[in-house]
Amino acid sequence: MVLAAEKNAPVGTAARNWEHDPVLSVEHLTMRFGGLVAVGDLSFDVGRGDITALIGPNGAGKTTVFNCVTGFYKPTEGRIIMRHGPGRQERAVDAVTASGLRWMKEADSGVFLLERMPDHEISHKAKVARTFQNIRLFGGMTLLENLLVAQHNPLVVASGFTFGGIFGLPSYRRAEQAAIDKAVYWLERTRLIDRADDPASDLPYGAQRRLEIARAMCTGPELLCLDEPAAGLNPRESAELNELLKYICDEHKTSVLLIEHDMGVVMEISDHIVVLDYGVKISDGDAETVRTDPNVIAAYLGVEEEEEIDVPEVLQDVAETLGEAEKSGSKPKAKAASRSSAGAGGRAKASKPATGTKKTKRTTRGTGKGDKA
Ligand SMILES: Nc1ncnc2c1ncn2[C@@H]1O[C@H](COP(=O)(O)OP(=O)(O)OP(=O)(O)O)[C@@H](O)[C@H]1O
Ligand SMILES: [Mg+2]
Repeated sequence: MVLAAEKNAPVGTAARNWEHDPVLSVEHLTMRFGGLVAVGDLSFDVGRGDITALIGPNGAGKTTVFNCVTGFYKPTEGRIIMRHGPGRQERAVDAVTASGLRWMKEADSGVFLLERMPDHEISHKAKVARTFQNIRLFGGMTLLENLLVAQHNPLVVASGFTFGGIFGLPSYRRAEQAAIDKAVYWLERTRLIDRADDPASDLPYGAQRRLEIARAMCTGPELLCLDEPAAGLNPRESAELNELLKYICDEHKTSVLLIEHDMGVVMEISDHIVVLDYGVKISDGDAETVRTDPNVIAAYLGVEEEEEIDVPEVLQDVAETLGEAEKSGSKPKAKAASRSSAGAGGRAKASKPATGTKKTKRTTRGTGKGDKA
């Protein structure tokens, strides 16, 4: 299924996995809720083995994208391609699209059209796992039980869909032991092993977030989607989360798609950043490209439509803020400068004209979503 030529990255693009080896492609995705366009004609790629961050102000449409990718919502329009195996596999993608099938699989490769698949197939067959913006654990179950429930599918198959489990057949016992081993492995990796027999609801907030990641990893995903995993974490916990995500990527070859407001996390670990505002992509590239993009600065600082911003002055303002935050030992949180603070007096500098410097206008509005403001 994979063409030989597709396996080889074009010379000079080794660092841009999302261009030559995307594990996920979102193509012209639109999601409407009545008259509200939460996501409009959005396209981006997620590189295999990369940590990709999806960022943007509150209400930008990030969680809606996750809900479309993981089958919670049926997109109004668009195609979402998940690939197992290297390369863009264009021939296979065209073949599945034309056939009306949901996926095509061969030994070491596969193409899955997620917009055609129900959520349980997306997790089980396409191997996409997720965590939620609002933690969703089985609070009354122990940590170990939470991780065993996540491995329900292989256990049910091993039980022969009933009797193997009831009679404790050897094949079921082996599968059960493998599930326990995997759960223990991820409890150790997330430093939760000492609490394995406690109810999940007894864990502090940061530990519950780690347990959600452990649970998702127990399903053996090719793509792990995390919705604001650093929300509510203290700086030490955020640093540990960074390490955990890098470990997942490097050691388990799992690609990560991350929604995050904590720019400390995003800038440190992301190979690729996609920025949304009002459901539309306003920037796409590596951290340096996105950090200096005037559209991104305008979206985060919340300048008014058609208002001019002075890019060098704003960048200096951002640098000063970052410097002060570093001195005081706290992390700058982009959420503090989200849309809700648009037009706040503290950001008046952003629109102050200065002669001889390049100015830009916010160009991200006018997307047919004026009703959202
Ligand atoms: N089920 C729904 N029905 C109606 N509107 C919805 C629904 N889900 C999301 N929206 C709207 O779509 C827009 C995008 O919401 P979404 O939750 O995707 O934003 P977000 O980028 O994740 O924001 P945040 O950073 O605050 O989590 C919002 O205006 C939201 O109110
Ligand atoms: Mg959200």
